[in-house]
Amino acid sequence: MNGSPHTVHGVHVTMLQHLKEGLCEAGAEVTSQDVYKLDIKPCLGCFSCWSHTPGRCVQDDDMRTLLSTIAQSDILVLATPVYVDGMTGPMKTLLDRYVPLLKGRFEIRDGHCRHPLREGVKTGKLVLVSAAGFTEMDNFEPLVTHVKAACKNMGREFAGAILRPYGWYIPHLKRRGHPVDSVFEAIKAAGVHLAKDENIPEYVLNEISRDLVTREEVVKVINSHYEQFE
Ligand SMILES: Cc1cc2nc3c(=O)[nH]c(=O)nc-3n(C[C@H](O)[C@H](O)[C@H](O)COP(=O)(O)O)c2cc1C
Repeated sequence: MNGSPHTVHGVHVTMLQHLKEGLCEAGAEVTSQDVYKLDIKPCLGCFSCWSHTPGRCVQDDDMRTLLSTIAQSDILVLATPVYVDGMTGPMKTLLDRYVPLLKGRFEIRDGHCRHPLREGVKTGKLVLVSAAGFTEMDNFEPLVTHVKAACKNMGREFAGAILRPYGWYIPHLKRRGHPVDSVFEAIKAAGVHLAKDENIPEYVLNEISRDLVTREEVVKVINSHYEQFE
């Protein structure tokens, strides 16, 4: 699921292309969706999917078919840029609309109140793919914490976070001949590992998020672009 508004060019599109390449190379079947292109209305909070229309939302939009795809998936990949320290609005809307796959009643799971999954819904794994504008890795912390918590809510196992700080700068670095390809090769490798072992080794994740240039360089570049508009 690409939760970035950039559906043709953009760092998430590129990251997802490489991840898909790795997944497919290792034999996985991949379904891709651009969340911004879909008609996914906000949850109305009516709880009808837990009562009068069990497992079915009263809203007839693209979430109907998407939910059955998600329910069948072994690995759900959520890609979202960091927007004000979290996921994009449409991606959050998608997660809210996941609720029909759960039952309304409570169960105690791992010492915590949860909703059981409906019959036929795969538990499966979930992977986060995210790029941020800023340079520090702590910019991802609120998003990663949120997605890990959502995994427990959704009954999915968190299988790792593919994180790339100052992702917007990578195309510029590439044009200047900087060896950035290793980042995308590592993302492809992450796809292979995911398809084969359903997890991503730490060294691969570290290669993806590694420092490419100094923070001072990133600040200088962004400031030299935006100062003309001030
Ligand atoms: C509305 C908005 C809010 C953003 N908030 C943050 C933020 O809190 N922290 C951060 O590091 N980057 C932030 N960014 C930068 C994006 O995460 C960054 O541009 C991202 O890499 C875009 O990826 P894309 O080109 O694939 O859409 C924000 C961008 C926008 C448009």
